[in-house]
Amino acid sequence: MEQVKILSPATVANLVCGFDILGLALNEPHDIMSIRRIDAPEVEIKNLDSFGLPAEASKNVAGVALLAMMEKLDDGRGFEIAIEKKIMPGSGIGSSAASAAGAVVAANKLLGNIFSNEDLVQFAMNGEKLASGVKHADNIAPCIYGGITLIRSIHPLDIVSIAPPPLFVTIVHPQIEVRTSDARQILRKQILLKDAIRQWGNIGGLITGLMKGDYELIGRSLEDVIIEPVRSILIPAFNEVKFKCKEAGALGGGISGSGPSIFMLSTNEKTARNVEAAMIEVYTKEGIEFHTHVTTVNTEGVRVAN
Ligand code: HSE
Repeated sequence: MEQVKILSPATVANLVCGFDILGLALNEPHDIMSIRRIDAPEVEIKNLDSFGLPAEASKNVAGVALLAMMEKLDDGRGFEIAIEKKIMPGSGIGSSAASAAGAVVAANKLLGNIFSNEDLVQFAMNGEKLASGVKHADNIAPCIYGGITLIRSIHPLDIVSIAPPPLFVTIVHPQIEVRTSDARQILRKQILLKDAIRQWGNIGGLITGLMKGDYELIGRSLEDVIIEPVRSILIPAFNEVKFKCKEAGALGGGISGSGPSIFMLSTNEKTARNVEAAMIEVYTKEGIEFHTHVTTVNTEGVRVAN
């Protein structure tokens, strides 16, 4: 194989109560990447969009992920990668993860799939480290595996795939920037035992609800008493958006990753569209620029483009 072209999906990390351990892949939007091997032991990056991301491999999330893979390969060769980002950087729907995970999945396909999915997650997490200062896999894993993933542990890596029932996802991205590194720094380092008890009740409830297809339980469990109260102050009209979306029929939702996007889950497309209308109404009234997406769960993860 000379060249591989892939589509790398956006993802929603945390799923409200599962900070750093839960994530879901989306069918829309996705980045488009083409990769081929070159004889020099380096990563050449061509950015085909107007986001102005660094082209220097050591400063680019896809670049550092590929450099980590090359260190393991140690065959004296490198990669040339062309990246067309459709997922806006800093949107909270896994833009950096899509670049890093897409790059290493595409490279692995070129190499005849010599690396396991766990290896790919390890390589791609270097991109998250560059982007946010911390290795976390809650965007990377669903991007690579598809569906919903639980990161039971990072050291050692232990990823569990959870097959969800049919779900529609509505996203609103208010056009403000929240840097993941900032959104992590403001978090409290210690939490109360009573909050931890409530949170792990919700995580257990959410996973059980997803596995049993119990929408009521999913809805009840989409509650975060630890991260959301701190981070939601960074997102304009957060509480109103959430209230209006639930009124429009959403099961529930909250901050997507570290924000500023907000996501909501619904059981059917009609409700998901009503939820989108509620989001549009709030942000239009607030005079804030925004983008919305109505999509479904991507069960495949990064895939080869036709
Ligand atoms: N779990 C991460 C966070 C996801 O919330 O900081 C952001 O990429």
